[in-house]
Amino acid sequence: MKYYMAPMEGITTAIYRTAYDSCFGPMDKYFTPFLVPHLHKDFNTKERRDILPEYNEGLYVVPQILTNQSEDFIRTAKLLQQYGYQEVNLNLGCPSKTVVSKGRGAGFLGDLEKLERFLDDIFEKLDIKISVKSRSGLMEHEELFELMELYNDFPFTEVILHPRTQREFYKGKASREDYQEACRLTVNPICYNGDLRTVQDCEQIEAVFPGTQAVMVGRGLLSRPYFISESRKNLEREAASPKEENRWHRLEKFHHQVYEAYCEAYDRDEKNVLFKMKEIWSYELESFPNSEKIGKKIKKAVHLLEYEKLVSHLFLSMAPYS
Ligand SMILES: Cc1cc2nc3c(=O)[nH]c(=O)nc-3n(C[C@H](O)[C@H](O)[C@H](O)COP(=O)(O)O)c2cc1C
Repeated sequence: MKYYMAPMEGITTAIYRTAYDSCFGPMDKYFTPFLVPHLHKDFNTKERRDILPEYNEGLYVVPQILTNQSEDFIRTAKLLQQYGYQEVNLNLGCPSKTVVSKGRGAGFLGDLEKLERFLDDIFEKLDIKISVKSRSGLMEHEELFELMELYNDFPFTEVILHPRTQREFYKGKASREDYQEACRLTVNPICYNGDLRTVQDCEQIEAVFPGTQAVMVGRGLLSRPYFISESRKNLEREAASPKEENRWHRLEKFHHQVYEAYCEAYDRDEKNVLFKMKEIWSYELESFPNSEKIGKKIKKAVHLLEYEKLVSHLFLSMAPYS
């Protein structure tokens, strides 16, 4: 089975992806957070920092596009193709109100006629692999049936299903029943996404839904970045460097790499660097036993030096758990 890193806006940036790959990788595919097409001829500086191949060396990256205008999707996909990308992903899952109110992301699922015209157009005019990341529907789970019928009319490289409706946001549990139906109905390869936190969770998906060719992991991976690599056991890497096996050592190396890269990208601007790092910690502190007190201090840090001291203290305090 294949493992994919989910796109997480603001978090799974090129900096995060490459550090992950060198410390815990490889992942079979890395999906970028969504790109919103614009009318400029090329990507802007922020987008280039995430998309350009030199920032994603050695990784299979799939850029994701968020739009409900086929001409915008086509123009952006062609630009990505010029940068060497072989696959793009259509975002039909974003539940955020600002996105949905414009009929984009999961909001696009509310107008299947328009979606069909959009898909007709992009599949006709593009010569690049296209995958889709979709919710089960906008309001009701029953929408999934019509949606899968629609997806079946197009040769998607894969359909990645996050089996919640837009209305559910991230509440409750992702619906295994929806996913089962999708597996039964789909003619395209299918990938599961939602609430996977352990390798057992992932293997259970494969066992229960044998049509599954891949799983995509988001928050579970941010909280415990080591969880897939510790189970997959990259034997070659371990044999070459047994010390690397230690979870805390790897996490520390990972953090150092992400932090240094953000310091460089933001010219050590304290506010920007700390904002990025705190977002990562808001998930990852879960990995650290008894870290509430120091976690609070990290979240409150306003200076890089103060932050650095707190983080090294945190890793030092993990020695008994090695
Ligand atoms: C902070 C945050 C940012 C996200 N950004 C994106 C995004 O840019 N594109 C997308 O398709 N999904 C995005 N998602 C959804 C995730 O990719 C994923 O579908 C969702 O978190 C469910 O998977 P999980 O339970 O493994 O986290 C985001 C989710 C979160 C919490």
